[in-house]
Amino acid sequence: MKKLKVSVIGSTGYAGKELVKILVNHQKVELVHLTSSTFAGKKLAEVFPELLGRLDIRLIDMDLELIAPDSELIFTALPHTVSLEIVPKLLEKGIKVVDLSADYRLKDPLLYEEWYKKSHNQISKDWLSKVVYGLPELYYQKIKKAFLVANPGCYPTSVILGIAPLLKCKLVEPQGIIIDSKSGVTGAGKSLSLGLHFPECNENMKAYKVIGHSHIPEIEQELSNLYFGGDSQNKEGIKVSFTPHLIPLNRGILSTCYLDLKDDHKSEMEIGKIYQEFYQDSPFVRVFEPPNLPEVKFVAGTNYCDIGFKIDNRVGKIKIISVIDNLLKGAAGQAVQNMNIMSGFPETCGLNLTPTN
Ligand SMILES: NC(=O)c1ccc[n+]([C@@H]2O[C@H](COP(=O)([O-])OP(=O)(O)OC[C@H]3O[C@@H](n4cnc5c(N)ncnc54)[C@H](OP(=O)(O)O)[C@@H]3O)[C@@H](O)[C@H]2O)c1
Repeated sequence: MKKLKVSVIGSTGYAGKELVKILVNHQKVELVHLTSSTFAGKKLAEVFPELLGRLDIRLIDMDLELIAPDSELIFTALPHTVSLEIVPKLLEKGIKVVDLSADYRLKDPLLYEEWYKKSHNQISKDWLSKVVYGLPELYYQKIKKAFLVANPGCYPTSVILGIAPLLKCKLVEPQGIIIDSKSGVTGAGKSLSLGLHFPECNENMKAYKVIGHSHIPEIEQELSNLYFGGDSQNKEGIKVSFTPHLIPLNRGILSTCYLDLKDDHKSEMEIGKIYQEFYQDSPFVRVFEPPNLPEVKFVAGTNYCDIGFKIDNRVGKIKIISVIDNLLKGAAGQAVQNMNIMSGFPETCGLNLTPTN
């Protein structure tokens, strides 16, 4: 069987390592090149001893002239703003790309500049009309034909999947949405900073970027599309109040979303049916029947997004609880799901993972 030749740029980061761990077990993929600027020249198992005996490969520098001719699809797992100029160079060589950064997620280049403090150039801007936002549960058909997929952020994945059916079916008011999200520490990547040291995170919980987290425009872009349709621009669209928190876990996100139900709203049983129907063809979304609610440990180590909800009749609100593993459905797992769809493989290939806890 001819295998798809795949490389990972940024393979030693938290997301990149998860990609490698999935891809070594993927029956339809051959891993060709793995890059790292810090560890170039070392064998993979020297950097990650837990992968000893799984893949005999040496890490290399990010030399696109070397990597591109051997690769049919490349994952770029680089920090925000680093991918911006690299991605078009790969696409120009006819290689499909799944980019895990935020660089191609926002359709409006001015919004990207405002939130990420970097401007698109003409070449990267041209790709914005062709890039597909890589949330398979919403854009499966477009992902199938895509050359460039912008893999969604971790918080946005939990939030958008959590409330998509409510907005698409217009069961809730589009304004006044409040989102409270909690993330494990791997969500911040492997770079060191005092706030991420063990004594600062262990036995502690803290809110951060209480106003202005960079995932806000991505969440608003997709929620606006769901409610208003098409590629509606944020200026007239949905605005959310989003507060992220850091919690003492390695991996996992739990988002609680508060939305105002419209008058004469449906019952919990009816809403449960709407969710089941909305996600009936989505193998990685599991909807819990009230009063059951999902927990982070149900999804840790898997590509699932688990969703539960309750109606608070006293205040006319619905509360959605949505959980994912930030490194899998929030990053590497979803990226492989996108690769599977782009390559005509079964969507779940390599992703039949069971919870680790
Ligand atoms: N962590 C998550 O939960 C998560 C979730 C969703 C999306 N993402 C996104 O995925 C991307 C990677 O995240 P991460 O958490 O894996 O980050 P990370 O742990 O900081 O890893 C970043 C990787 O990029 C490489 N790198 C850094 N700067 C570079 C540069 N200037 N040129 C070339 N390579 C460079 C690093 O290489 P070396 O150290 O080997 O030199 C490393 O392999 C980010 O855009 C992030 O926002 C992460």
